[in-house]
Amino acid sequence: MNYFYGDLNSDREENRWERWTGHRQEVTTFIGQSLPLLRKTDKMVILGVGNGDDLDFNYLCNLVHELTLVDIDKGSMEKCLSYIPVASSHKIQSLVECDLTGLDQLSYYDQISKLFKSQASMENIVQYLNEIKTQIKRLRILETHVSSYDVVMSSAVYTQIYYIQSLSEFAAYANFYNENEVQSITDAMKVLRDEIIIQYNKLMLSLVKNDGTVILWTDMVRTDQEFVFPEEEFYSLQSEEERIKLIYKMMFEHGREAAITGLLDLYAKLSPEGRKVTSWVWPFNNDRHYITMGLSGTKESMSHK
Ligand SMILES: C[S@@+](CC[C@H](N)C(=O)[O-])C[C@H]1O[C@@H](n2cnc3c(N)ncnc32)[C@H](O)[C@@H]1O
Repeated sequence: MNYFYGDLNSDREENRWERWTGHRQEVTTFIGQSLPLLRKTDKMVILGVGNGDDLDFNYLCNLVHELTLVDIDKGSMEKCLSYIPVASSHKIQSLVECDLTGLDQLSYYDQISKLFKSQASMENIVQYLNEIKTQIKRLRILETHVSSYDVVMSSAVYTQIYYIQSLSEFAAYANFYNENEVQSITDAMKVLRDEIIIQYNKLMLSLVKNDGTVILWTDMVRTDQEFVFPEEEFYSLQSEEERIKLIYKMMFEHGREAAITGLLDLYAKLSPEGRKVTSWVWPFNNDRHYITMGLSGTKESMSHK
């Protein structure tokens, strides 16, 4: 049971389904644009499906023959399953408590807790994080599902996976370390996070069939009282190209590192033919919105490399 993501996913406003209507429509439109030729019998998997508030399950269940839902958090998956139209429930497979980092296979969560609780030295913690970074490259995740899906989707996972959980656990022990040590430990976590994201991209590409499609969206830039979205400037731009340029500028100046790492890596691994990039504003809650990026495409075939 992963309490961290359970708490995070259940910390939602009552009216979230309504608040996210526009976001859900953007996600649905982007899926539609990415899948012009989807056949009725196709198999789709959604990674990080969580509560499923960003997904139109009527639309998705009509598209596909089989829909597999994956998340580390069992509680939110239960909420998500309640959105599935009864007539389509036979199409659903759910893989609950599935850790897409593979860190559970390495007993990472127990080990890092022990290191923090015993106030291990900064050197020992950094060394352990570096070892894990090497080990995760050899893991097999969802091995029996390799090349199984016509469509692999990822719902805002880059900014959620690993780092925020690890950082919040470390925060409780940070007082035992000096400023430089805290910096070294969080730097090592970031290096591990980036490797986890690269491996996550590899996982998505391993799950999709050769002619299949990968579709993902990720929160990219947080806009709140401190960083206000330059609405007037954005909407005064005349062309889509100029708007995308402004989004890129914001992405490099204010973007969340995890999202940039994941997007740039996956972008390079998708075939330029038919690859799509888009963006929209996700009104997450009363206090913050996210500029969200969507990326989709097919695997770059080996012959292009
Ligand atoms: C931002 S949420 C996606 C939004 C979600 N579709 C919704 O509407 O609630 C990201 C999801 O990634 C899941 N997640 C985070 N780390 C994970 C991991 N290591 N393995 C599997 N899922 C993970 C979280 O539990 C969460 O449900």
